[in-house]
Amino acid sequence: MAFPPSFIDELIARNPIEDVVGQRVNLRRSGANMFGLCPFHGEKTASFSVAPDKGIYYCFGCHKGGGVINFVMELEGLSYPDAVRNLAKRCGMEVPEDEQYQSRYQAQERLWALHKEAARFFHSQLYAPIGKNALNYAIGRGMPKSTLTKFGVGYAPDSWDMLVKAMQAKGYTKQELIDSGLVTESKKNGNIFDRFRDRLMFPIIDIRGNVIGFGGRIMNNNDPNAAKYLNSPETLIFNKRKNLFALNYAKKSKLGYLILVEGYMDAIALHQYGFDCAVASLGTSLTEEHAVLISRYVEQVVLIYDGDEAGQRATRRAIPILEKAGIRVKVLQMKDAKDPDEYLKKFGADKFRLLLEDSSNRVEYQLNAIKKKYDLKEDDQKIRYVHESAELISTLHSSVQREVYGGRVAEAAGISPDAMKLEINKAYKRRVARDKKEQEKVDLAPVRSLQPKARTIRYDNMKSAMAEEGAIALALLDPSLMDKEQNLSGSSFSVPVLGKVYDQLLAMHQKGMEVTLAAVTDLTSDEMSHIVGVCQRREGPVNETAFSDCAKTILSISQASKVSTDDDLMAFRNRLKESKGTKQ
Ligand code: GTP
Ligand code: MN
Repeated sequence: MAFPPSFIDELIARNPIEDVVGQRVNLRRSGANMFGLCPFHGEKTASFSVAPDKGIYYCFGCHKGGGVINFVMELEGLSYPDAVRNLAKRCGMEVPEDEQYQSRYQAQERLWALHKEAARFFHSQLYAPIGKNALNYAIGRGMPKSTLTKFGVGYAPDSWDMLVKAMQAKGYTKQELIDSGLVTESKKNGNIFDRFRDRLMFPIIDIRGNVIGFGGRIMNNNDPNAAKYLNSPETLIFNKRKNLFALNYAKKSKLGYLILVEGYMDAIALHQYGFDCAVASLGTSLTEEHAVLISRYVEQVVLIYDGDEAGQRATRRAIPILEKAGIRVKVLQMKDAKDPDEYLKKFGADKFRLLLEDSSNRVEYQLNAIKKKYDLKEDDQKIRYVHESAELISTLHSSVQREVYGGRVAEAAGISPDAMKLEINKAYKRRVARDKKEQEKVDLAPVRSLQPKARTIRYDNMKSAMAEEGAIALALLDPSLMDKEQNLSGSSFSVPVLGKVYDQLLAMHQKGMEVTLAAVTDLTSDEMSHIVGVCQRREGPVNETAFSDCAKTILSISQASKVSTDDDLMAFRNRLKESKGTKQ
């Protein structure tokens, strides 16, 4: 990253972590550290800790951790440079923008401006003569002018270059238009032409209010191969995995939950009928990034996917993703209409509200899904229904819940509640036994249980990796230890990320700066969390012997792995044999 280390050093010093975190989390001091409720996952007891002296935070519940910059990145969903800019503003520091960043940032701003102009253009075309059919279509689908204005709905004319010409007239270059994804470049002659033609256009707006892309619904279905909806491609400013349609409005809703639907039209209809907490994913299935984004605003989501098989599959997929982000999930099942848009238009808002109040939690939904699979008139199918339901119910922690759901299944299957209870207990015992076996496997394979959760980090050589973790933890606790092992550098580390961290700590120390994880850059938030976690868990003495043990292990393993030719390998094996021999 191109910010000068000295600048980052000062930035961290002028933004004490306890102050920055304290603005969002109620912290209570306990000894050297401070504790509060974790802002990254739902919890009732404080497992989120801040160590002001080390400049880091760590959650013992969800294992997120890092320095003040990581905190801002995670909480505000910002990139590293943007988090730095945010903190610089907070403490009144001037940011030394390097040329590359400056130009990237400027390119982003140009694309935002271009998208805003494009949205204006499309919107104006809806009311131009050329947009007559599209306007009629929109009105025919029940969108009044107020809705068209609120969502900035527009029309991309049936033309090859109207957008191109309009944007070029505003001073946007060919390259900028290509970068925006709103035009396509011909491979043959390099000419550019409008990507969206004869489509009703829905601007996609991010939570800060920038237009970042479009979804376009086909108007004339002359071409059977044309997609019904066409979305902007990924660009510098648009990532469909990280954005949700209408979240810019829904985040302000007072309803306290979000409604998640499949389609643009569904989200718009819901807003129009007063359910101002509706969002839609952008023609992709729900991602973990979406779930994390949602969890910043609400703790509960009502899933309303279409009633068809694809919608049900998407529902099953979405439940665990949302629950993993700490979100409670309810599922609303649409009856007598294929999607919320159609339902609202057929039955109105009041009926829909009843449906919403009736929407079941995910257990009911899953039990229903199991029931649908079996024909309960057949005995063997009935048994399988009871069996599978008992498996699900046995995972519930509350005995009241187990009783209630067990009773319902018993009734549906025509068995006694006691017989059902027995089934649930058996299922519970089976699971405990299964879990125990799993746990034993994990315990017997320490190598696997020590494997980092961050997917980009892999420990191939566990012995070296443990020593590398140790070296980093010790260097943080006493940086002068690094002076004693001049031979050790990140290039000897078997885990590249750990090597990168060690090199940065070493550089801080050599420049006479404070050695802190908070100033380490160029890591993903998972990687950062992993490393903070490693240092939190570190036990044992902090002294030269401990550090030099780590260094020796790292260096010897790294040298061994560099031995490549057969001769060297033989020599190494012999040496190894010898050294083993002398130890015994
Ligand atoms: P209407 O037919 O206008 O009511 O739209 P809908 O929202 O009911 O459409 P549908 O249920 O067919 O699709 C739901 C969502 O999936 C849409 O809003 C799009 O985001 C997405 N989608 C549908 N068809 C396509 C397609 O052909 N390509 C892409 N990329 N996305 C699509
Ligand atoms: Mn629809």
